[in-house]
Amino acid sequence: KKRVLSGIQPSGRLTLGNYIGAMKNFVKLQDLHQCYFMVADLHAITVPQEPETLRDLSEANAALFIAAGIDPAKSNVFLQSAVPQHAELGWLLTTLTTMGELERMTQFKDKSNGKESIGAGLFVYPSLMAADILLYNADLVPVGDDQKQHLELTRDLAGRFNSRFGKYFTAPEPYIPEVGARIMSLDDGTKKMSKSSAVPGSFIALLDEPDVIRKKISRATTDSGAEVRYDVVNKPEVSNLMSIYSQCSDMSLEDIRVKYEGKMYGGFKKDLAEVIVATLEPLQNRYYDIRSSGEIRDILAQGAQNASEIATQTLDEVKQRMGFLSSK
Ligand code: TYM
Repeated sequence: KKRVLSGIQPSGRLTLGNYIGAMKNFVKLQDLHQCYFMVADLHAITVPQEPETLRDLSEANAALFIAAGIDPAKSNVFLQSAVPQHAELGWLLTTLTTMGELERMTQFKDKSNGKESIGAGLFVYPSLMAADILLYNADLVPVGDDQKQHLELTRDLAGRFNSRFGKYFTAPEPYIPEVGARIMSLDDGTKKMSKSSAVPGSFIALLDEPDVIRKKISRATTDSGAEVRYDVVNKPEVSNLMSIYSQCSDMSLEDIRVKYEGKMYGGFKKDLAEVIVATLEPLQNRYYDIRSSGEIRDILAQGAQNASEIATQTLDEVKQRMGFLSSK
């Protein structure tokens, strides 16, 4: 059995991008491996969050994990902030990270671009993410394409620690879907679909009602052509819709091309909306059941307890190797 860890920031309502890029694989991996899935609340505060909103989104997103099919009997679901070893190992790894490495992170460049005041947390964020992963010595990290560079840094930090303090950390591998690793925004095929976007029409939230989904898909940008064909360079928007279609059905991109050959975008979009609705409706029903049952608090408490067992062992070992005097 391998160890799997991943996390999602409660910085907005989860989207179809999060589901396709990451959560679908969480569900797939839990049957084969030992899994840790966290609500990355310590990461979310690298940009300002309203306390009440953060609390609400943290609980909502944990419930969405379960609604999407993560089984708390198989996987550990927890809040990052409930396992203090994340922050502590984060600091230790920050001291092994160089400014140059952090300056090269494209997510930092994107998020800080044009801002006159940039939080230091946003800058050191990748070291904390490395800590999340290395704390569990995870072998596999299911993520979307945008997290690849952070995973590369994590591997470098694992290697750096190992060469300075003796081999201890496993270099984790990203686990990225073949189709849908980067779901694009519905109004612009060159921008990533983002849960923190201010334009609701640009994303599909997992909790969007069926009619909202239908409206958003019918308004989604397409090119002026009429061909349903996968071509990311020349037809980024249509290609994106095809990826979503494929991931919400059991059809390959080629199956979809053949099905809509010689047809217009209208019918394709109509069917796509129904495929998405059929995927999300059962998830939404489970979500509202979980929220009203109140069981999420117990799931998070149990998950944090299980996670703490491994996290404590790792941190003790790391501190011992780095030369901290034990006071036990
Ligand atoms: P976050 O919260 O931005 O996104 C959560 C997961 O969803 C994936 N994702 C997407 N996949 C496809 N298309 C999209 N448009 C899309 N948008 C988001 C992300 O790649 C991610 O897998 N730094 C992480 C959270 C994190 C983490 C970790 C992940 C913190 N610690 C440790 C893995 C391991 C983040 O900001 O993800």
